[in-house]
Amino acid sequence: MLLNKQQKNTYLRLIAYAMPYKLIIAISMIASLGVAGSDAVIAYLVKPFVDDLIVAGNMDMVKIIPFLVVGLAVLKGFSRYIQSYYIRTAGQLGIQDIRNEVFGHSIRLSLRYFGERSSGALMSKILNDINVMQSALADVLVTLLRESVTMIALTGYAFYADWRMALMAFVAIPAAAWPAAAIGKKIKKFSRRGQSAMGTVTGVLEQNFSGIKVIKTFATEEQEEEKFIKENRNFFNLIRKTFRYSAATAPVMEIMTSIGVATVLWYGLDRVIAGELTKGELFSILTAVLLMYAPLKRLTKVNNTIQKALGAAERVFEILDSQPEIVDSPNAIDLQRSQGYVVFKNVKFAYEDEPVLRDFSVEANPGEVVALVGASGAGKSTLISLLNRFYDPQEGQILIDNHDIRDLTRVSLHENLALVDQETFLFNDTIANNIRYGRPDADMSQVKGAAIQAYADEFIEQMPEGYETQIGDRGVRLSGGQRQRICIARAILRDAPILMLDEATSALDTESEAMVQQALSNLMQNRTTFVIAHRLSTVMHADQILVLDQGVVVESGTHQGLLSHGGAYKRLYDAQFGDQTS
Ligand SMILES: Nc1ncnc2c1ncn2[C@@H]1O[C@H](COP(=O)(O)OP(=O)(O)O)[C@@H](O)[C@H]1O
Ligand SMILES: [Mg+2]
Repeated sequence: MLLNKQQKNTYLRLIAYAMPYKLIIAISMIASLGVAGSDAVIAYLVKPFVDDLIVAGNMDMVKIIPFLVVGLAVLKGFSRYIQSYYIRTAGQLGIQDIRNEVFGHSIRLSLRYFGERSSGALMSKILNDINVMQSALADVLVTLLRESVTMIALTGYAFYADWRMALMAFVAIPAAAWPAAAIGKKIKKFSRRGQSAMGTVTGVLEQNFSGIKVIKTFATEEQEEEKFIKENRNFFNLIRKTFRYSAATAPVMEIMTSIGVATVLWYGLDRVIAGELTKGELFSILTAVLLMYAPLKRLTKVNNTIQKALGAAERVFEILDSQPEIVDSPNAIDLQRSQGYVVFKNVKFAYEDEPVLRDFSVEANPGEVVALVGASGAGKSTLISLLNRFYDPQEGQILIDNHDIRDLTRVSLHENLALVDQETFLFNDTIANNIRYGRPDADMSQVKGAAIQAYADEFIEQMPEGYETQIGDRGVRLSGGQRQRICIARAILRDAPILMLDEATSALDTESEAMVQQALSNLMQNRTTFVIAHRLSTVMHADQILVLDQGVVVESGTHQGLLSHGGAYKRLYDAQFGDQTS
């Protein structure tokens, strides 16, 4: 193949995925010998066919020729069937492994990775790019094997029959290789760009379907359609460029090979006239040369397929080469059930350059409630993300029961944490399975118990199939408050000693808020809780209230203490309750 060093590495890496299936590939290889052998035998048989049958008129041949023709076709057909079936199976098995590995790897990447990329582009890599690789891994193995063995057999026969004429036919090959390589390179370039454009198309799709309500609200279907048409056209333009080059491959090859055939014919006829060669020998070699060019043509096509696959493979391997930012330290310890003693010690954190938290400290004793208040963008949710270890702080420490959370295994850390936030994400599954998501072994009575505490049992029982009702895209739609209560039930069942509530009641109306509020108080029993809420009524009873402003604690204390202090908290309080108190 016509590959540079980096491409070779990518290709070897791709081929490595076929390695576990080398036995299947070996079967296919053996069968490909049958295909190649049949072609060589056909070329070989042309000589007696012409010399004995047509020229000398030996009628004995007539009886066996039809059987030979059919017999060879059967042998070739059977070999090709076995070879193609097994090689495709091996290729598809390899692709299945790649897809599993890419998915498994990508969901283990840290949150920052997903924040920096569109999910549409990621989906496109896992679906479209791997498909492109699939055709390459399977088809390439098929063609590469079969055609090279055929080529070798025919070339061997041609050289054996008449090396000078064979050599002439071969002069055209290196001459044809050069344009083929140039074409392959172009194809790879545009294919890679095309795949990236397909990622954008997928991204637009994903955005539109998940944001369909916004589109309907603003009646912007036309505008979205234009956006889609534009990206789709962009994809088409790039893909069309690959057509331009791949369509040129066959004609270029044909012109080159015609030169080879013409040379052989011209020189060979000369020698037949001179009596140095029988007619049968000439046709036999000509047949070998002609049969040889077909695999050669297919091999250049393979080059194009490989180039396309390499473009896709590079994009896919980018995912596999991204390392998760947050990993367990080599001697991470398993945190047993925590007391719920949580300390932030001089934490400084920035997503990029601009610090979002500066010198943040707080000590939460077991069972305490710590409330975080402040304007949006102050850094409240970021604190929750840090406690979850979605990111590591640049300076300072976060400790649970005096262990730095970076010294704990991620699994044991998360067993001790439960988060309820305004993003009430539920899976397309039954209500029961959504509630037991964090504790898959929970039985029905535990699920129901959690739902009762979350004030969710009543509405769930009214659903057509109760706890077995399907929700989400393919099932029943729930109200914001209902979703929130299912999320709370999920957290209750998880039964973690440290609880984080980030605007967990923000989406609710007053009536369901009262219920959810009660559900949350149930949940907060005997747990260390960090609560973020816009409505100060929900944080009033906290043991400590921290007022954040641009990543700095500007005030802290209890509700009463802060009110009498008359600072930022008092101003927030007056803004919310001013009407009622005055
Ligand atoms: N994933 C992120 N990447 C970069 N910046 C972020 C990210 N999440 C939040 N920020 C920024 O960090 C700051 C604090 O955000 P956040 O903690 O969500 O505030 P709050 O929850 O108090 O409203 C904001 O300026 C926000 O723009
Ligand atoms: Mg927030």
